[in-house]
Amino acid sequence: MSKIVIINGPNLNLLGKREKTIYGEISFDEYLQDLKSKFQNIEIEYFQSNSESDIINKLHECNDKNIGIIINPGAYGHTSIAIADAIASINSYCVEVHISNVYAREIFRHHSMISSKCIGTISGFGLMSYQLGIEALLNRSV
Ligand code: DQA
Repeated sequence: MSKIVIINGPNLNLLGKREKTIYGEISFDEYLQDLKSKFQNIEIEYFQSNSESDIINKLHECNDKNIGIIINPGAYGHTSIAIADAIASINSYCVEVHISNVYAREIFRHHSMISSKCIGTISGFGLMSYQLGIEALLNRSV
């Protein structure tokens, strides 16, 4: 795997400002510096959009077996058949991550449209969910 692309969905541009008791006090840009220093041997690209179509276009752009995708779809994870179809349509390995433990929250957050299209899901470890997702991609055996 030559590159990891992190895709964050809607409202995740507000990390550090938004619902801090759930999502923490750190912005994603700050955390990204941390991640990049932990994984210096691999290129990490970051993309965020509040728009479903931008996320789908980015997934299409990443259609390459040598690219690993970490996607936090935000609320689209619970609703978007189109994002699920986009993940199913590309060759890249994809890990779904959530900052909060979605299973400890409202029932509408318990279902994910995209989980079955990803190699796995990590939920509930705060921003560390992204680090765990990268480790899972780099160490995967299947
Ligand atoms: C989230 C969980 C979603 O239910 C929510 O809509 C988000 C963030 C998480 O990272 O915990 O926007 O994906």
